Amino acid sequence: MILVNENYSKLKASYLFADIAKRVKVFQSSYPEKPIIRLGIGDVTEPLPPACVEAFHKAVDEMATRETFRGYGPEQGYEFLREAIAQNDFRKRGADISADEIFVSDGAKCDTANIQELFAQKLKIAVPDPVYPVYVDTNVMAGRTGKNTAGRYSGLVYLDSTQENGFVPPPPETPVDLVYLCFPNNPTGAVATKEQLAAWVDYARANKALILFDAAYEAFIRTPGIPHSIYEIPGAKSCAIEFRSFSKTAGFTGTRCAFTVVPKELAAYTQKGEAVPLHPMWTRRHTTKFNGVSYPVQRAAEAVYSREGKKQVKATINFYLANAKIIRKAFLKAGYDCTGGENSPYIWVNVKGGKSWDFFDRILHDAQVVITPGAGFGRDGEGFIRVSAFNSRTNVEEAMRRISAIL
Ligand code: MLT
Repeated sequence: MILVNENYSKLKASYLFADIAKRVKVFQSSYPEKPIIRLGIGDVTEPLPPACVEAFHKAVDEMATRETFRGYGPEQGYEFLREAIAQNDFRKRGADISADEIFVSDGAKCDTANIQELFAQKLKIAVPDPVYPVYVDTNVMAGRTGKNTAGRYSGLVYLDSTQENGFVPPPPETPVDLVYLCFPNNPTGAVATKEQLAAWVDYARANKALILFDAAYEAFIRTPGIPHSIYEIPGAKSCAIEFRSFSKTAGFTGTRCAFTVVPKELAAYTQKGEAVPLHPMWTRRHTTKFNGVSYPVQRAAEAVYSREGKKQVKATINFYLANAKIIRKAFLKAGYDCTGGENSPYIWVNVKGGKSWDFFDRILHDAQVVITPGAGFGRDGEGFIRVSAFNSRTNVEEAMRRISAIL
């Protein structure tokens, strides 16, 4: 008899964004004449940077002739891309990361989900609340939690991210083994200072814990002094894995390219306390279960680091940040407290005692705008909504006109 993974029954019926899509579909079928504007899921709208498109085309042409055609590439990514990443994203910021510590993949979502298979079943895991649901749901699937009661799974340590701590939770009093951190944060848009990250690195080192650091939104950081990578913090190479993505940086949500940094000095421990390096383990996992990102996509990603590519990426991100400013301004003007939107594409809005799903329904029905209810990111997200700045200027202006009119 085939037995099912019963851990799945602990999950909510569907993934947050699938849930939202269902509600929007129902609304759309009842009111097909009402045009909807989507500021919900963080999906980019602006086209790929021209430098990436050019490199993409060129690489596709290479695939069209016998002489330049390429079949399987290295699973960890081509050297040209790994080197460009190590140089531009890390060494230029004083973080000593080498190309062979970079693992190119098809997404930070998959990597943050897959990485946990390197670790033992019994772990004390800390997650912020609110949190990107993938970190939690994948641990539920793997059987590392108990049941969900009143919006929280037993067995997890929740790190309250609240207005009081500026949505940057400090390390807990008790030791944990694995910590998920994401800065600039999804969903709150908050950023962590060097000192705040250093406190986490000290905590991880003192407890032989591992930090899984999701930096998918680092390209939105504009405030000087805010770290773009956890490896800007001394000691982080011995206690952190970092996840990055070209999705939000260069519009690759549909193209798929990301990478994970696993430093060679990083270790986890056996029951007996012997250190086991994680780099060879992730190499083994990646080479066994993944066949690499396609050659044209990696060439397109490499172009992000060209002189033109850098300029174009910066311009697109500035464009989204200007959208974020419009969104922030409108909510603040209507008397709603906001965080994020300054170093992040997300604006986290306090709905003043209201329920997030009620606010979601109200904005969908009365303004035909899709946002994300904060409660979908965890219990502490109740009373907030997340608004995404990923859309055209015309749509953002129109959405905020409609929302302002009903608030
Ligand atoms: C989000 O809206 O939170 C993101 O699109 C999620 C993701 O990048 O997978």
